[in-house]
Amino acid sequence: MKVFVSGGLGFMGSDFVRFLIETQPKVEVLNYDKMTYAGNPANVAAVAKSPAYQFVKGDIANSADVERVFKRFKPESVVNFAAESHVDRSILDPGAFIKTDVEGTQVLLEAVRKFGISRYIQISTDEVYGSIKSGKFTEESPLKPNSLYSASKAGGDLMVRAYVNTYNVPAIITRSCNNFGSHQYPEKVIPLFITNLLEDKPVPLYGDGSNRREWIYVRDHSLAVWLVASKGTLGEIYNIGTGFERSNLELTKLMLKLLKEPSSMIERVKDRLGHDWRYALDTRKIRSLGFKPSVSFEEGLERTVQWYQENREWWQKIKSGSYRRYYRRNYGGK
Ligand code: NAD
Ligand code: DAU
Repeated sequence: MKVFVSGGLGFMGSDFVRFLIETQPKVEVLNYDKMTYAGNPANVAAVAKSPAYQFVKGDIANSADVERVFKRFKPESVVNFAAESHVDRSILDPGAFIKTDVEGTQVLLEAVRKFGISRYIQISTDEVYGSIKSGKFTEESPLKPNSLYSASKAGGDLMVRAYVNTYNVPAIITRSCNNFGSHQYPEKVIPLFITNLLEDKPVPLYGDGSNRREWIYVRDHSLAVWLVASKGTLGEIYNIGTGFERSNLELTKLMLKLLKEPSSMIERVKDRLGHDWRYALDTRKIRSLGFKPSVSFEEGLERTVQWYQENREWWQKIKSGSYRRYYRRNYGGK
């Protein structure tokens, strides 16, 4: 089966590509990625030489390029991981989010329709539902995005809905909680805090640290997406979550413990603008397809810490490059 994966050089897309090439002998992958700051060829180095893998540099918002690749590769399935994905960056530069997350999604859907592709999977996020004080979001919950990032992702989801409703495009949306694991760009809280601690730097905790997130190990996310791609019902939405919910302070303390660092390494910094307090997902639907997380939160975090300890070159290269300017802009001169 031929699978077109967009955004397959990023954190989650590259895990999905490695998973497909390493475990699915009947699958051929074309990885289509714009190579933004977050797209890193090193993330797929382990599979890049496989005859079942090929890479094309391209933008999902460029219809001519997308159609040229579809014409040549003839994908049966399209899995769209490509996005601007970081909430803090959306506060600094919302335009890029609308271009990729909304317009790029529409361009892909149009090409899927035109080329009669059998399956389109949109990788979305729990953030489109907004923040919830207690209880959990189901797939029927209304979309109430609060950030420029989540509003753009919700725009992409609504494009999917409209293409399904109008043209019967064979699409499915997945909405996942926060992912963590190897190869995650060190702007997101877990890799930022682990790598700061490995550099003997403090960790910038926003506000009072009471905000809560639900966490999934990235390989479990890849397994869930593959389940949806293989067994999911067209036109449906699937939440992907684990029930592993922690406050940011609890999460930070766990990382300090794993790295044997004192709590004085926590630096309280000003809160994120419009910071969502809590996300939590009802996952009965994905569980009914047979999904269940393969690792506990603690085991996943231990593996993640170990990966960053053993792959300093990977993140030091990023942290000493253009990322430094972003970090100073966001955290003010550190
Ligand atoms: P990431 O930022 O690590 O990677 C994004 C990838 O998309 C990069 O390789 C980048 O080069 C590529 N890309 C960006 N714009 C593109 C464009 N216009 N055309 C082609 N490629 C482009 O992101 P991630 O954390 O791996 O997230 C992947 C997807 O999962 C995103 O859609 C995100 O919204 C969604 N998601 C992320 C999380 C999370 O916790 N990280 C949770 C739920 C959903
Ligand atoms: O919920 C899914 C979403 O999770 C995805 O759709 C997004 O792509 C992904 O970036 C992530 O969004 P969050 O905003 O939840 O992730 P982030 O790692 O940026 O922040 C997690 C929490 O940690 C959040 O409450 C803010 C806090 N935080 C974050 C950073 C970067 C800090 O306290 N300090 C920090 O320096």
